[in-house]
Order: sequence, then structure tokens, then C-alpha cells
Amino acid sequence: MDYKQKEGKVFSQGPSNIAIVKYWGKKEVQLPFNTSVSFSLDKCLTNTSINYYSCKKLDEYSFSFLFDDKPNPNFEIKLKQFFNRIIDLLPWLKHFHLDIKSSNTFPHSSGIASSASSYSALAIALSEMHVQITGESLSPEIISEIARLGSGSACRSTHKGWNLWGKINEHESNDRYAVSINNEVHEAFNNIQDTILIVSNKQKEISSTVGHQLMNNHPYKEARINQANNNTLLLLNALKHGNWELFLEIAESEALSLHGLMMSSKPGYTLLLPESLQIITKIRAFRESSKIPVGFTIDAGPNIHIIYPDTNKKEVLEFIETELSIHCQDKLYIQDKISSF
Ligand code: DP6
Repeated sequence: MDYKQKEGKVFSQGPSNIAIVKYWGKKEVQLPFNTSVSFSLDKCLTNTSINYYSCKKLDEYSFSFLFDDKPNPNFEIKLKQFFNRIIDLLPWLKHFHLDIKSSNTFPHSSGIASSASSYSALAIALSEMHVQITGESLSPEIISEIARLGSGSACRSTHKGWNLWGKINEHESNDRYAVSINNEVHEAFNNIQDTILIVSNKQKEISSTVGHQLMNNHPYKEARINQANNNTLLLLNALKHGNWELFLEIAESEALSLHGLMMSSKPGYTLLLPESLQIITKIRAFRESSKIPVGFTIDAGPNIHIIYPDTNKKEVLEFIETELSIHCQDKLYIQDKISSF
């Protein structure tokens, strides 16, 4: 071993992302059943720092992990699995001890999934370490691949703006990492807003990991894969031509299909709450009456992401404040948007 640097410190930020076409179902290791498309957020971030130094014992990496300055044994188990998966991509890891510290910029109790921001921040921090230790840079593809090995959706968070993950014949894309599609997106979507309505901040009863597993024997598995791949092509077209109407149609259909898949799994389950449905109904009525291109998407939980152009921000925020915040837990909503690229 002859590494340039034997100790050092790196710091990174990884954003959360919101999928418009959803990743749901996977093969080993975190390879998606279908293509997905998302945008990275601007304010919902994980901050990560790593202090590292070389170990005396060779061939044995070690680490400590603190979240908000406190130990998190559950995440430590997942991290160990993550390091075992990436050791072939970053073989120098074996010779170092890492003290990792993380915190999120969004409220702890918001119920926002943080695996995408956590693993993208980690992948970016590890890529900085790679530069310091070897003197060479990792490609954006490898950084995205490292994040994917932590959490599938995290591979779409290592690039800013719009991302595509998963192989389709019509595009130079890949199952192993996400690619940026910013230069294929019309300027109408350059500054898309995402206001996240916190309907419940409770930990969900069924994790995404279990949800993905239930897709293996799902009665609609093949139909879902076709639907998502077709929706990806339609979405790429809508993004290219600045077509908000088609964009919102796909976004809402994908969100409700995801929840339909959960309801029709064996066993079936529901994550949407009555308030989620009340909000959806009001958004659709508001769109109809105002003619403003505003719609929603939903991840694996009850919270509703309201998506709309920045040019309509004033009217939509007024609508949210007066009509929708009453359905949120403690009237909480988080104002975010696409990360600038
Ligand atoms: C519903 O990326 O959290 O948010 O790969 O098991 O870590 P793992 O799953 P995860 O799944 C997220 C799925 C989703 C949709 C999406 O982001 O595409």
C-alpha cells in the first residue's frame, strides 16, 4: 500500500429526490425491475462528514457512525452491508478507519424518506476521499453506482436536476447507475416546485424494502414493468416539449399506481390516509377551476408532494395555506424545488 494520504477529512451534501416515474421492485443488488425518472431537491439534504485515518491492520476496514451526534445501531448494520458491497469498487477502503457523522436539513419528524439523501451524501463523500487517497477522480457513473448499492433511489441523487435510471432501448441509460437528462428537458421544467405536505410524520408500518420484495410475486408484476417503461418514454417526451398537462397526468397516474400495487400485494397494505385523499381531491378541483398546471406525486407514505411551475408559486402557496394545510400534521409543509443545475 502506498497511498498519498494517510488521514484526512471530507464533507458532502446529498439531496433527497422525488420520482415522477417510480422505482418499485428490484433484483440483486438493487437493480431495478423498471426505469424511473426523478428530480433532485434543493433544500432536503443530508450533510455528511468523514474523518479517516489508515489502519494498522491491513485488509479490515472499520467505521463509526453518528446521526445527529447520536449512535444509530440500525443504520450501522445497513452501513456494514453497504461497505461490503462497495469494497470491490473502492479497494483502498480496507486500509482505513472512518468516523462518519450525518445530519439532515429537513425536520427529523417530517416522515421524509432519507435513504436517498443519506447514501448520495455518503457516495459523494467517499468520492472525495478517493481523490485525496489515490489522486484520481471517480466518474459520475461510478459515484451514482456506489449510491445505488446503499439504496436504489439514491443513485438518482448524486446528480443535480433531472435523472433517468434503468435501461431502455430508446436511451443511453443503464440499470447500474442514473444518468443526467437535464439537457433533454424543456426550460418549462427547469425550476419545478415541490411543496411537501406532511400528512403524518409517523414511521411507516411497512418499509420500502418489504414493498419491493412483494413485487417479486405480484399478480401485476409484468404489467407494472411495462407501464413504468411506457410512462418513462411518455414522460421524456413531455419533459422535452414542455408539456405540463401530459407531465401531470403521468405523475399522478404513477403515484396512484404505486399505491395500487401496495394495496394489491399479498399481503396488501395501505399507506395513504384519509387526509391524503382529501388533499388529492382538492388539488384536482383547484387545477380544474384555476387552470393552473398543479398536480401531485406521492412516495411510499401518506405525504403529498405538490408539483407546479415556479411562475404559479404565489397562487399555489396561497391555496396550500388556506385550503390544504389544515389536513397536515401540525399544519406542517416543506417548501422545496428542483436543485439548480
Ligand atoms: C417509492 O430506494 O428506498 O421512493 O433500494 O430498497 O433502498 P431500496 O429502496 P428505495 O425505494 C424507493 C421507492 C420509491 C420510488 C422511487 O423513489 O422511485
